[in-house]
Amino acid sequence: MNYSIPFDRHRRLRKTPALRSMVRETHLHKEDFIYPLFVVEGKGIKNPINSMPGVFQFSLDELKKEMDEIASLGIRSVIFFGIPDVKDAVGSEAYCATGIVQKAITQTKEQYPEMVVIADTCLCEYTDHGHCGVLEDGYVNNDESLILLAKTAVSQAKAGADIIAPSNMMDGFVATIRHALDEAGFENTPIMSYAVKYASAFYGPFREAAQSAPGQGDRKAYQMDPANRLEAFREAESDTVEGADFLIIKPALSYLDIIRDIRNNYHQPIVAYNVSGEYAMVKAAALNGWVEEEKIVMEKLISMKRAGADMIMTYHAKDACRWMSEGK
Ligand code: PBG
Ligand code: ZN
Repeated sequence: MNYSIPFDRHRRLRKTPALRSMVRETHLHKEDFIYPLFVVEGKGIKNPINSMPGVFQFSLDELKKEMDEIASLGIRSVIFFGIPDVKDAVGSEAYCATGIVQKAITQTKEQYPEMVVIADTCLCEYTDHGHCGVLEDGYVNNDESLILLAKTAVSQAKAGADIIAPSNMMDGFVATIRHALDEAGFENTPIMSYAVKYASAFYGPFREAAQSAPGQGDRKAYQMDPANRLEAFREAESDTVEGADFLIIKPALSYLDIIRDIRNNYHQPIVAYNVSGEYAMVKAAALNGWVEEEKIVMEKLISMKRAGADMIMTYHAKDACRWMSEGK
């Protein structure tokens, strides 16, 4: 060994748990989490989702109990997806004052006024064809859909939503919804835009949970091509100009590079959506005993923060909060 050549002893800072935690660069907090919830009409309903162990569809009475647990675990924010009893071509239940999501929002704000309640604004759970807008000759008509999405956002704000999160990927949705919210007196309601949303197979289990798979075709004519990176900048740019208060990147795990790109170039809070398929894969492997669930999940979540996300929408939120309370 030639001792005249200096080299770095990186291991000095890894020697003890105390040192490691002192030099840790990224941290997860309970307030980083946004927990997704599926709500249905009816009573006493807590339907398990096959492909998402631990995730359920709740009727409003069951939601109330669930919300007690969520709040007691330290989760500060939830996002609602509604599954209506009746679907039609124009998604009428999405913008109905007594729609299931509207009722869930109002109930939750009464139960926990401090909870940050986010409304997902899209039509796919409400249309009989399962697309995120209205169809014209099999193609989603952008501008016609915007009118209905703006109505949906306003009705969600009226129900008490703290934040509107449009996930429909129509062009101009942020501007249109901003304008409609302002006109209705909700100029202080922020828009958390699904700015960068890829046409992804990782949404498969969600479509079972939300009963929202498109009857025909796919979403490639409005969601982004997974091969594209520069397009993410164009999407983030237009949403920023239109007034988006938050930018969501979705999915998260296969798109950590995009999260970093957007973090480096934009200055709104960044949200990573750790989607249903990402959850299902870990759950399936864990249930088989093939991976250690807690370690895998916490590593995934920290990687999203390290990539630049400020917040994470994740079905793992309840488990993660439990593990964090145990001080692991
Ligand atoms: C609705 C919507 C989807 C997700 C969130 N909002 C499904 C889709 O676009 O097909 C996916 C969430 C998940 O997979 O967890 N547009
Ligand atoms: Zn949709």
